[in-house]
Amino acid sequence: MPPSLADAPIMILNGPNLNLLGQRQPEIYGSDTLADVEALCVRAAAAHGGTVDFRQSNHEGELVDWIQEARLHHAGIVINPAAYSHTSVAILDALSACDGLPVVEVHISNIHRREEFRHHSYVSRRADGVIAGCGVQGYAFAVERVAALAGAVAAQT
Ligand code: DQA
Repeated sequence: MPPSLADAPIMILNGPNLNLLGQRQPEIYGSDTLADVEALCVRAAAAHGGTVDFRQSNHEGELVDWIQEARLHHAGIVINPAAYSHTSVAILDALSACDGLPVVEVHISNIHRREEFRHHSYVSRRADGVIAGCGVQGYAFAVERVAALAGAVAAQT
């Protein structure tokens, strides 16, 4: 059983190139930076009495290691796997090893309105919810959903 929101942070994971948020294709991803997104997530979690552990990596294996860490030590996962959404069975497998852990996938852009290769996400197969096309606000929605799911899990115990 995963720890509750009162006992553990929500792991928020960001994949490759999201360190460039605000500079990278602002016509698609907007002008907010990843630091702005972190501040948004901190506020969203605090509204539910929770905290966040906010990370970004350009490396698939590091994201896998962090998911394995979250499996034991976090109340849930919000993940924007970025380009790895469309390629990574390793990230899907790591998430699939997190039995009972709330997982919500976020995409800043509407991946379904973009190139064909972005329409499929391996991660969606394990995600409890998927948010796309809501800009960086999608992270706040995802935190809210993970908090609700983590609360529901805690209420059963
Ligand atoms: C993204 C969409 C992906 O297709 C892309 O590779 C990204 C960001 C998004 O947030 O919209 O890097 O996950």
